[in-house]
Amino acid sequence: MNTLELRGSAARIPVLGMGTWRMGEDRGQRPAELAALRAGIGMGYRLIDTAEMYGEGAAEELVGEAIAQAVRAGDVEREDLFIVSKAYPHNAGREGLPAACACSLERLGLDYLDLYLLHWRGEFPLEETVDGMRALVAAGRIRHWGVSNLDTEDMEELAAACGGEGQLDCAANQVYFSVSERGPEYSLLPWLQARSMPLMAYSPVDQGAVMRDAGLAKIARGLGVSAAQLALAWVLSRPGVVAIPKTVRKAHLEQNLAASQLVLGADVLAEIDRLHPPPRRKHPLAMI
Ligand SMILES: NC(=O)c1ccc[n+]([C@@H]2O[C@H](COP(=O)([O-])OP(=O)(O)OC[C@H]3O[C@@H](n4cnc5c(N)ncnc54)[C@H](OP(=O)(O)O)[C@@H]3O)[C@@H](O)[C@H]2O)c1
Repeated sequence: MNTLELRGSAARIPVLGMGTWRMGEDRGQRPAELAALRAGIGMGYRLIDTAEMYGEGAAEELVGEAIAQAVRAGDVEREDLFIVSKAYPHNAGREGLPAACACSLERLGLDYLDLYLLHWRGEFPLEETVDGMRALVAAGRIRHWGVSNLDTEDMEELAAACGGEGQLDCAANQVYFSVSERGPEYSLLPWLQARSMPLMAYSPVDQGAVMRDAGLAKIARGLGVSAAQLALAWVLSRPGVVAIPKTVRKAHLEQNLAASQLVLGADVLAEIDRLHPPPRRKHPLAMI
């Protein structure tokens, strides 16, 4: 699995992970979801993305169960996993963050998170969130902190809230980025790239909609891959980008892993640009 360096640290984040939104919501789906997470770990996935919001904690519990089973079975060591969770904005104050993080850790059955994100901007000043995150790092409860759904101007504000660019210790920004949602390429992605801060692309296969994109399907057929694989390979072709597609199917986990090794030629990239042109002006960050 390829990895990227996190900002301000020698630690690395895998470029491909497993998303978990909507997992844990339906008890009937639990065995299949657990099996998918176990299978993913078994085939080499190390990054798992979750949030206290997903199933109001049920996704974290599911991820915790998958990790516990995988560690017990000797499939993986905890230290080799990269576990990401997110705090609700209403928990992102100096007092709320440690409490929310403790609940996430409890549900996950872990001593620490590898990365803890502010899910989106809310009522708390960024300075408070930065203080809360730094306190969690100092306490050993999280290894790194970051943000999600913050646009370029928010990131400028965040840098100021950190005490200036020199002290910008935010490790990553997770945003919606896909072949049909290329807005971040205009200014956000260059801003992050310039600061060696990975962009974690959520909904990288447009929640499955790429499979209905006839233009992509045609290019994909020529390469002997699926439209989802092509869309994922395209996201990962951008420097400094990590992708966290969600799937409950073993076949799709395998396909996504294979897609992360695909190298797209200049002709393919140009065809994709014709289908889904890069942004020519600033668009507000899209959110799902
Ligand atoms: N920070 C945020 O605000 C935020 C917002 C949204 C999402 N996220 C995170 O990002 C993760 C991914 O985003 P997402 O779940 O919204 O959308 P996504 O990963 O773009 O799409 C998930 C859908 O695509 C299908 N799929 C996945 N791989 C496929 C493949 N190889 N071929 C065909 N279909 C495939 C899945 O169906 P099957 O299960 O049938 O394969 C599923 O229905 C989330 O789970 C969550 O962890 C974060």
